[in-house]
Amino acid sequence: MDYNIVCIPGDGIGPEVVTEAKKVLEKVADRYGHRFSFTDILMGGASIDVHGIPLTDEAIRTAKAADAVLMGSIGGDTSTSPWYKLPPEKRPEAGLLKIRKSLNLFANLRPAVLYNELAAACPLKEEISEAGFDMMIMRELTGGLYFGERKTFEEDGQLKAIDTLTYSESEIRRIAIKGFDIAMKRRKKVTSVDKANVLDSSRLWRKVVEEVAKDYPEVTLEHMLVDNCAMQLVRDPKQFDVILTENMFGDILSDEASMVTGSIGMLASASLNDTKFGLYEPSGGSAPAIAGQGIANPIATILSAAMLLRFSLDLDKEADAIEAAVKQVLKDGYRTIDIMPQDEEGKRQVTQVGTAQMGDLICERI
Ligand code: IPM
Ligand code: MG
Repeated sequence: MDYNIVCIPGDGIGPEVVTEAKKVLEKVADRYGHRFSFTDILMGGASIDVHGIPLTDEAIRTAKAADAVLMGSIGGDTSTSPWYKLPPEKRPEAGLLKIRKSLNLFANLRPAVLYNELAAACPLKEEISEAGFDMMIMRELTGGLYFGERKTFEEDGQLKAIDTLTYSESEIRRIAIKGFDIAMKRRKKVTSVDKANVLDSSRLWRKVVEEVAKDYPEVTLEHMLVDNCAMQLVRDPKQFDVILTENMFGDILSDEASMVTGSIGMLASASLNDTKFGLYEPSGGSAPAIAGQGIANPIATILSAAMLLRFSLDLDKEADAIEAAVKQVLKDGYRTIDIMPQDEEGKRQVTQVGTAQMGDLICERI
């Protein structure tokens, strides 16, 4: 089959890791008889440099017309990059928020898995890391504090700022349905995370999630307050299967979950709308400090490409092949710098490779 994939290389290490993911997709195409045509669009700092804004309407139209979008990362060093001298709505991140909203990508899936081979990189106690974990964070992505009304104004001689956290029943229902659907394909447990002891939006969240749960009698639902969840993620991450939560809580908890896997360079993500369409990106940032050195870990982007095949193109076998190749490459002892063991003995047992080499090694295993 022929598929049209739009790529957003973006900023920092983005272009380097997207190149490797494309390489892997080309290998999949070859091996399984598909054709992927790639079209690049600009977003973030790369778009600001050319167009003065982080995302053009033309770029959005191109993305909309694709079967799926594969993204690297956007943004630069917030204290030194000239992009951050611009007003907030013209900075790189505004492009990301705009594409999420324009493409209605309300469901953000962020898997956090501890690979056996990388258990040593897990910063938690050995008894916890040895038990392993495999969770899926389902983050609502187009509502809440990120998209509520906000303003800064002067009152009684001082500045005051307001952000608003709004959710409607339908916004909660559609993400909850996605969460339960995913749980049905996994270990059938949903932990809905909120702050219902304080926030009205959380009390509504809880009510709607309970209504949706009635349609999934096989799924166990539990509610957890967000502060407790932050604690449980480092105390006993194994207890989680699907974590279902609103935008801001999901932003914070997904970074925490990724950190306990040992490296943010390993984690993929998918942002989906209510059709098969989605935008796929590594969970890590643009890492401007190491950009252009050929040392960034491309695995998160390669695994994002696997999610793209699975969720947007229904190519499960091909997605499995990429995931298996990643596991194999780790088993064979290849590591990018971010996942190198810290101790001398550990270092002797593995081989450090760069970005392109890691891409090649994964291709060889497909
Ligand atoms: C993420 C990022 C973004 C977010 C930023 C860059 C706006 O942290 O994808 O988690 O907060 O959603
Ligand atoms: Mg974040």
